[in-house]
Amino acid sequence: MSEVNRCVCTGLTFAELSRHPAAGSGFEALRRATGCGEGCGLCEPYVRAMLRTGRPSFRALAPCLSGGESGPAGGGAR
Ligand code: FES
Repeated sequence: MSEVNRCVCTGLTFAELSRHPAAGSGFEALRRATGCGEGCGLCEPYVRAMLRTGRPSFRALAPCLSGGESGPAGGGAR
């Protein structure tokens, strides 16, 4: 199973991002302040989910990476 716990492009973990002062102002503010989501953009749904839930890691969204497990939504229904 593949865990996603950081923005690979910036190297910042979701735990670090959650503690950033801009985290309280939403994704766009955090993106502007840190650059997370401005590279490849793949971390955006995870960072948004981290801001909603406070979770620092998630199972990968893509079934081919995760073995079919659920992603940030915590669902799993297909
Ligand atoms: S992983 Fe965050 S912008 Fe690429």
